Amino acid sequence: TYVITQPCIGVKDASCVDVCPVDCIHPSQGEEGYEENEQLFINPDECIDCGACEPACPVTAIFEESAVPEEWKSFIKINADFFKG
Ligand code: SF4
Ligand code: F3S
Repeated sequence: TYVITQPCIGVKDASCVDVCPVDCIHPSQGEEGYEENEQLFINPDECIDCGACEPACPVTAIFEESAVPEEWKSFIKINADFFKG
């Protein structure tokens, strides 16, 4: 799965949302059913690993899970936890 990390915080450019073919990046602006947050998250149960979002992010916040920089590894769980009821 792909993961959104620290650089997204406070930026939320949302270019990633536009390119994701399965709409698994939340919460997009004004989206119902999700709590607003300071960053966006990728639902690991829905991500198909297409990689389209990674180059779309202007602040390089998105990484494949195994490629997340050491200092941002905690975001793997943070992304997953956002989707747990
Ligand atoms: Fe969406 Fe593809 Fe990015 Fe997964 S890798 S979040 S499916 S654009
Ligand atoms: Fe955040 Fe980059 Fe998407 S800033 S909202 S991960 S395009």
